[in-house]
Amino acid sequence: MGRADKTDLSVLIFGTKLRNPLILASGITSGTKDSLETAAKNGAGAVTTKSTTLLPRKGHETPVLSETPSGFINAVGITNPGIDAAIKEFSGWNEEKSNVPLIFNIAGKDVEEFRAIAERVGAAIKGGTLKISGLELALSCPHTPGYGTMAGQNTPESTAEIVRVVHSIIPDSVPLIAKLSPNISALGEVAKAAEKAGAAAINMGNSVGPGMVIDTERRSPVLSFGCGGLTGPAIRPIAVRCVYDIYQSVKIPIIGTGGVTYGKDAIEMFMAGASAVGVGTAVYYRGPKAFSLISREMEEWMSVHKVGSLSELIGVAHRK
Ligand SMILES: Cc1cc2nc3c(=O)[nH]c(=O)nc-3n(C[C@H](O)[C@H](O)[C@H](O)COP(=O)(O)O)c2cc1C
Repeated sequence: MGRADKTDLSVLIFGTKLRNPLILASGITSGTKDSLETAAKNGAGAVTTKSTTLLPRKGHETPVLSETPSGFINAVGITNPGIDAAIKEFSGWNEEKSNVPLIFNIAGKDVEEFRAIAERVGAAIKGGTLKISGLELALSCPHTPGYGTMAGQNTPESTAEIVRVVHSIIPDSVPLIAKLSPNISALGEVAKAAEKAGAAAINMGNSVGPGMVIDTERRSPVLSFGCGGLTGPAIRPIAVRCVYDIYQSVKIPIIGTGGVTYGKDAIEMFMAGASAVGVGTAVYYRGPKAFSLISREMEEWMSVHKVGSLSELIGVAHRK
């Protein structure tokens, strides 16, 4: 078989052109502007900040992260400096310099906390200090009491209410991304509710579980919180199935996140219906260069299979 003469990794998603579809996932070395800059320099197509709540949060005691076969289990507990400090940290992110769009990720206990955060983010956007290409709503953390799935978010009703309120505050020029949990059954309904309430994209999704690892010598769970969300290659088949499911329910684009470690994994996400791909745990396995390595592997696959553009692959696994 011959090769395609030219492959193009760029994608257009919620009105933003990315040089490649690989988006640094929230919470993976994403707490500071410098850490995002490192991912950008190493080939990320876009970067996402760590989830930010209204007030600073210490998070869970260490240990918060543990390696398991084919993945990691974590219960960080949304450690973050609070919205005012986060806006200060990420303001002045210069898309021109890094050439990489910034997605800002927020988490709230309830619709009121989301409203208060959105008001501050909206003011910073209107004031010109915060230049972001998307606002991601983390509705899906599985290991923090009071937040995400532990707060009952990820029902169609709660998702619609949060997305609608944030949408009414944030300028229309900034697309909203609803980040969903793979741990629920009515996924299509939740995704549809987000779309109807004004989300421009779905990030599918967060970590799986929670799960638990027990230290058999100490006879107690390894993580201080006891359980935590599973990420990495172990969850990829679940993430692919979730993307496949919601592709049939919504028209807005999907960021496929969960276990993407090699170029072929990203191609698989596109075939399930993703228009871009989140990359998290792969950075622990392959280092900061994970982005350029995965990009090169994607180009190689596309070249061998004579695929010129990724848009040719979105959802092809559905056309039987
Ligand atoms: C240590 C760690 C911290 C995370 N923190 C966040 C977070 O603050 N907000 C969020 O939306 N997702 C968070 N995630 C989830 C990731 O963004 C991603 O959805 C998940 O890890 C699955 O992708 P992966 O298998 O490529 O890592 C975190 C994941 C890990 C491993």
